[in-house]
Amino acid sequence: MPYRLTVLGTGYLGATHAACMAELGFEVLGLDVDQAKIDRLRRGDLPIHEPGLEELLRRNLESGRLRFTTSFEEAANFGDVHFVCVGTPQKKGEYGADVSYLDAVIESLAPHLDRQCLVVGKSTVPVGTAERLAEKLVRLAPAGAQVELAWNPEFLREGFAVRDTLHPDRIVLGVASDRAEKVLRDVYAPLGEEIPIVVTDYPTAELVKSAANAFLATKISFINAMAEVCEAAHADVKQLSLALSFDERIGGKYLNPGLGFGGGCLPKDIRAFMARAGELGAYQALTFLSEVDAINMRRRARMVDLARELVGGSFEGRTVGVLGAAFKPNSDDIRDSPALDVSVTIAQHGGKVTVYDPVALGNARAAHPDLGYADSARGAARDADVVLLLTEWQEFVEIDPEELGLVVAARNIVDGRNALDADAWREAGWHYRALGRP
Ligand code: UDX
Repeated sequence: MPYRLTVLGTGYLGATHAACMAELGFEVLGLDVDQAKIDRLRRGDLPIHEPGLEELLRRNLESGRLRFTTSFEEAANFGDVHFVCVGTPQKKGEYGADVSYLDAVIESLAPHLDRQCLVVGKSTVPVGTAERLAEKLVRLAPAGAQVELAWNPEFLREGFAVRDTLHPDRIVLGVASDRAEKVLRDVYAPLGEEIPIVVTDYPTAELVKSAANAFLATKISFINAMAEVCEAAHADVKQLSLALSFDERIGGKYLNPGLGFGGGCLPKDIRAFMARAGELGAYQALTFLSEVDAINMRRRARMVDLARELVGGSFEGRTVGVLGAAFKPNSDDIRDSPALDVSVTIAQHGGKVTVYDPVALGNARAAHPDLGYADSARGAARDADVVLLLTEWQEFVEIDPEELGLVVAARNIVDGRNALDADAWREAGWHYRALGRP
């Protein structure tokens, strides 16, 4: 392999990118400022739950292609291409994205860059960030203009991170020179020639990512808005969604009605996008996204209302069993998790809430020590006046309603993800309710 790569920031994105690039045959050095995280990664102990990633990490540690460090000087000496994969969380108390981790990486790395290399941003950023960082990089690097920036947004989904990285739908390269384009084409060549590559400028590359997330969030809120209308009209949004999905122009993906979107990306990214559009004088173009956000948050409130209805109008003295804590299945990520948001609200209104999740329990406990927890679905449902399915893990979809019915106080269930077989639950004597369905 002609280039040695570094990956700066080893969260979801960085850990996945580092292991996948090593898997493709590159020598990779991963860097993080969190010594504890680096110690775990060096041991092959992945700090997150991501299917298939730990095997990849271990295999490439053993082969020697993948190593980890906390030293920017070592990273600068090692790498020909530096991928920047740090987070851009929502700012406290406002919509905009906090890009300070990106600035910190550039400020720590650049002073050690004394030869030709490429720095590649992968984080989701407000449009205009790359231009600003490119200038900063050249100013701070001893090698000056020999050090170049490129923007290469990442579209991976948690739970499918390895697959999405090794088999992306497309690659977007925001570059300022032919050289940068060539280097990145070389780096991604092992992924296969058939993957579409869009080569563009910085702002377009940055915007592709914001636009993609805005579209996905809009699609989810669209079907959830239809769910609201279905509720008012006694119609069934699940069948509506199915019928829409056969229209090839619409398609069935991201059209699952339910509790809506959460996680570390979609909610904060649409807010950051609105904030940035406002700064650019284009706020009106994105006002629809505030409606997308509002529809999404209303699903959580509706879930709480449905549960309250089923337990007789008040949560006081009522026991609520919650299935799911992660923001989606196959992940232990609880950032902006609709499931935990609903759980906390019900507990605040006097409900005795017990939560179970196959992998996110540890994270949920640490973030919300006041909620009750159980080690199984049965444990969470024990003596419950109502059971809520809030994250559609396969394990919950496969629950035998008859068996779960033996431990609850009352056979009430709200299917917050439209994931269960309504007929089977009703046949087992459950009062089955779902968002958007009669
Ligand atoms: C998302 C984007 O998909 C990804 O391209 C980007 O890089 C990061 O943000 P992720 O947050 O991992 O990925 O999760 P995703 O699978 O997109 O789901 C987001 C949320 O939407 C979840 O809470 C999920 O439950 C919800 N969702 C998804 C729905 O409510 N309905 C759907 O039909 C699809």
